[in-house]
Amino acid sequence: MGLRRLIKNYIYRKKFDVHKSIELKKIKNKNILITGANSGIGLALTKKFLDLDNSVIATYNETNDNLLKIKNDNLKIYQCDQSIIENINKLKEYILNTPINIIINNAGTWGGKNQSFNNIDYENFSKAININAVSILKLSEVVLECSKTNSLNTILNISTLYSSTEHNSTGKNYVYKGTKSLMNSFSKNLSIDLKDEYKINVFSICPGSVKTKLNPNGILDPDKVAINIINILSSSSEELNGKFVDLNKKELTW
Ligand SMILES: NC(=O)c1ccc[n+]([C@@H]2O[C@H](COP(=O)([O-])OP(=O)(O)OC[C@H]3O[C@@H](n4cnc5c(N)ncnc54)[C@H](OP(=O)(O)O)[C@@H]3O)[C@@H](O)[C@H]2O)c1
Repeated sequence: MGLRRLIKNYIYRKKFDVHKSIELKKIKNKNILITGANSGIGLALTKKFLDLDNSVIATYNETNDNLLKIKNDNLKIYQCDQSIIENINKLKEYILNTPINIIINNAGTWGGKNQSFNNIDYENFSKAININAVSILKLSEVVLECSKTNSLNTILNISTLYSSTEHNSTGKNYVYKGTKSLMNSFSKNLSIDLKDEYKINVFSICPGSVKTKLNPNGILDPDKVAINIINILSSSSEELNGKFVDLNKKELTW
């Protein structure tokens, strides 16, 4: 890696440095549902929430090897391929007796290689629409239906700046950009529909460029990103309802 890139990455890391905050401790004894939790940001969030004495229902798609390594009685693991919406319906039986407090819609797909104009894999596109967007709507319905105690307080959607129409100066990547824009649209809509009736806060976060399976060239460390996300969740869910923010809680344009 060249010197210029190293300096750029250093500055980027500093920008989103972990906030030294005691807010983390506020999230305790909660039931948290995290999707796509066998790797990257989802796995880091799962571990951190468990460390803070919460219970986690962690869903995964293909493999659960990393989740199986976690030895903690407060962790439940559930297989759910979100490209098929009916699979999310089946989750009902599994969560029926667990009052979920927080949903983190983290599962996401880049959507395959072919995403430029005139070269789009439409089958992949359909799956990505379900994984990145429609499933967050269905999951909200399913959890609310099972939540007899009005336990659900927050729905956090892990989005990306790629979703932003205003920030788009690069073109291409129709699948990832389009499906994450749809996710943001659902996030905003849910923040209106669920706030009055159920007092649920719904918002989107862009985690920045994070080194994961989805983004091997990412800059930030998933464990540090998880701490920042939990800090944000524990300090200000209510004020963030309906918003799209970065790891510093700075509002981003849709
Ligand atoms: N890394 C970044 O720089 C970055 C930036 C902005 C936003 N994000 C967002 O952050 C979230 C987490 O991604 P990550 O970076 O941590 O990458 P990751 O490690 O690849 O995590 C994505 C997770 O989503 C799961 N997933 C994929 N297809 C699925 C399906 N059909 N059903 C259920 N789960 C499925 C994956 O499971 P399998 O591997 O088993 O398929 C994986 O565990 C994503 O929503 C992503 O868009 C990431």
